[in-house]
Amino acid sequence: MLNNTPEIRRNILLAIVAWSLIVGGSLGWAFFSINQESIKLAQHEARAYINKDIAFRNWAASHGGVYVPPGKTTPPNPYLAFIPDRDVTTTSGKTLTLMNPAYMLREMQSRFSGPSGERGRLTSLNPLNPDNAPDAWESRALLRFEQGETEISEISDIAGAPWLRTMRPFIVEQGCIKCHSQQGYRVGDVRGGIGVAIPMKIFHGIADQAKLNLATGHGVIWIAGLIILGFFARRAIQHHAERAQTEEAIHKLNEALETRVQERTAQLTATQDALVRREKLAMLGQVAVNVGHELRNPLGAMSNAVYFLQTVLTDADETTSEYLNIIKNEIAVSERIVADLMDAVRTSPPQPATVTVAELIDPTLRDVPASVTVKLDIPETLPVLRVDAQQIHQALRNLISNSVEAMPDGGTLKISAVENAPAKTITLSVQDTGVGMTAEQLDHLFEPLFTTKARGIGLGLVVAKNLVEANGGTVVCRSGFSPTDKGTTFTVTLPAADEKNIST
Ligand code: HEC
Repeated sequence: MLNNTPEIRRNILLAIVAWSLIVGGSLGWAFFSINQESIKLAQHEARAYINKDIAFRNWAASHGGVYVPPGKTTPPNPYLAFIPDRDVTTTSGKTLTLMNPAYMLREMQSRFSGPSGERGRLTSLNPLNPDNAPDAWESRALLRFEQGETEISEISDIAGAPWLRTMRPFIVEQGCIKCHSQQGYRVGDVRGGIGVAIPMKIFHGIADQAKLNLATGHGVIWIAGLIILGFFARRAIQHHAERAQTEEAIHKLNEALETRVQERTAQLTATQDALVRREKLAMLGQVAVNVGHELRNPLGAMSNAVYFLQTVLTDADETTSEYLNIIKNEIAVSERIVADLMDAVRTSPPQPATVTVAELIDPTLRDVPASVTVKLDIPETLPVLRVDAQQIHQALRNLISNSVEAMPDGGTLKISAVENAPAKTITLSVQDTGVGMTAEQLDHLFEPLFTTKARGIGLGLVVAKNLVEANGGTVVCRSGFSPTDKGTTFTVTLPAADEKNIST
């Protein structure tokens, strides 16, 4: 459920990284293109520059050099000393000296430097003029021209700053032979190179401005992307939280439903049990009423007969008296069974009256045999009860006799009472140290015709329950299976008398 949030966070982080990579990659590519573009631009300028130099030089070469008046900056070229008419005098007496193309170019190049600091160069691996000796880069380029390359254009550092250096080979033509054949050159040979060096600084400046603009644009797009991403991320997290909430609500609802189903099932089972019990009682009722009626009168007659015999036979021998006693006792037991039967099926409506707990319990203890020790814990401060004393006597007697029967070898019978003031009830408990009950016995305890005893038809507890319930009380049975609490405890809760009712 909610612990999926880290996954969402990870996805969001991944999206941010991916977006940054896309934007960063695009910017990187743009920077790379700008750099390439600025190099191309510089090369373009270099070629224009070289073309102009070549054109200028070719112009001079096409004239076989040009005569100029010798001066401080243009002295007669010592390297042209082998040319007979290097220095001439006009008819008017003016002296002129021959400037060879290289000389002219060199002078022009030394006077003119481009707006960005471009520097033109004429050089050779085998220079006539040591001024034209190549530097390291030029030497390498010249060697490569001899391998057949026609142009070399590279970024190279000059004094720590990047420059674009471009050079083209200078090939010996027919016109050059006049002055260069003495060095052994033939037409088609590489005589040297003509080149230019352009500082990249100016192009870098232009590129930097473009880069700044691009970076700003990319930054804006990146941030916009992040905002949109944040918006979706928030929606995703919200959506997720809502789903988690719904899931939890459904889960709770399910649980509630399950508890309700369980409750209802329990209720249904209880109702069913009650129905079965009632049905059994109804059936029993039919039988009991009939049998009870039929047996009551003969038992009464028998009882009277025995009484008569006992009063008449005052001098009867011991055996006869003993048998008469046996008959009398067995008739009493039978009458009791018949009475139980009748009580079990038809409880006459209770006639409640105020009665103290002691008054309720005392008469029931008469039948307890001597082998059982009785312990009473009944506080004198208990309020009085309002029940049908006759019926509760009967109920308690049945419970106690059940307890006594559970202790055939004797034991302790503990009877206590406590008040539950808020509920306005008094709880009596009848506790024995007898054999206890199994879970199955506990389950069926208050059902008619369920008995584990050899004698009796299992109505005592049913009668007790019926009577207590008729008086607005409850009976609960608990039987411990632990070694320390072996016996059985019946807990009877009865209504206390309302204060206003005490007088009646
Ligand atoms: C009028 C004579 C003359 C002619 C024609 C001429 N050069 Fe030169 N060239 C010279 C002299 C002299 C130099 C020596 C250096 C200087 O003057 O700076 C020279 C220098 C050079 C250099 C510079 C390297 C070095 O040796 O100092 C190159 C490259 C060059 N010439 C190429 C050519 C080519 C290619 C042609 C033909 C298209 C040509 N020259 C035609 C006289 C000539």
